[in-house]
Amino acid sequence: MNPSSKIPKTLVIGLGQIGYNNCEYMTRHGLNVDGYDISDEAVQHALNTGVIKNEATSFKGYDYYIICVSTHNPQNMSFPSLEGFFDVIRRLADEGNEGSLVAIESTITKGTSRKANNILNHRLHVAHVPHRFYSEDKDLHGIKQTRVLGGCGTCCATEALYFYLDLLNIPIHVVEDIELAELSKIIENTYRMIQIAFAEELKMFCDIQALDFTQLRKAINSKWNVEILEARSGINGHCLPKDSQMYLRLTEQTIPFSIAYSAKAVDGQYKRHIRYNKEKANLIEQAIEA
Ligand SMILES: NC(=O)c1ccc[n+]([C@@H]2O[C@H](COP(=O)([O-])OP(=O)(O)OC[C@H]3O[C@@H](n4cnc5c(N)ncnc54)[C@H](O)[C@@H]3O)[C@@H](O)[C@H]2O)c1
Repeated sequence: MNPSSKIPKTLVIGLGQIGYNNCEYMTRHGLNVDGYDISDEAVQHALNTGVIKNEATSFKGYDYYIICVSTHNPQNMSFPSLEGFFDVIRRLADEGNEGSLVAIESTITKGTSRKANNILNHRLHVAHVPHRFYSEDKDLHGIKQTRVLGGCGTCCATEALYFYLDLLNIPIHVVEDIELAELSKIIENTYRMIQIAFAEELKMFCDIQALDFTQLRKAINSKWNVEILEARSGINGHCLPKDSQMYLRLTEQTIPFSIAYSAKAVDGQYKRHIRYNKEKANLIEQAIEA
């Protein structure tokens, strides 16, 4: 894309939480944004709220393609699936504008961007700019937050840097290998999962030993270099389970006793523990009422 030319045409593919908020941000920054989604409802919502100009019927004619499609298995959201993602890539290989940028924001595992680049035959530039998103505080942790960026080649990274930093004013942390960008996202969430699982383990330990977890946690966290998390309702949603599953699959050949396996097992145990405690409390309540 020539910086001095027209207003760039951007197509956001996948209009869920990440795609929709991207459209909103990019439209606010003066870009000409169209959208595409396999869900009519998602497209209609983006059109009705004015965050996109048009629904794309073809992938032809865009300067920037931003991929935000889901990457979990629709039958079991704890597991990854890249089928829909590669459908999009194959369509871009047929219809995408030569020399345009394909920015992958969906969470993907190591090696996915280069596979996509091979399918595209490097006719388009490919970069990975993984996301983190906190809808409760979109100003600090929304679209504009420090984003990791890697390109399949230097030309890809340069195009992506121009798009995110110059056009969108988003702070960027560049990594030399695109695989590092892929890994950074799934490891962030695996790390989070391990931290949560440890808090869950401590809470179970305290319950069994009749100890006050809240007081124990406060005592431990009085030190400058410790931050034990709260133990809540277990690890839910698709991000942490799916991302850590991507990491686990990568460790299978190299680190057979990954700590992430234990974290997953502890979380399962904790969910059973809170379910049991709830049932017990209900029975006691019923017995008192009777
Ligand atoms: N929501 C978050 O907080 C968050 C944070 C970081 C990363 N991510 C990642 O970003 C990606 C999108 O997440 P999300 O929360 O926006 O998901 P979402 O489920 O809210 O939205 C995904 C959208 O993609 C659409 N879609 C699926 N397959 C498609 C296809 N083949 N073609 C076109 N559209 C398709 C779905 O219809 C849906 O509207 C995922 O990979 C997710 O792991 C999400």
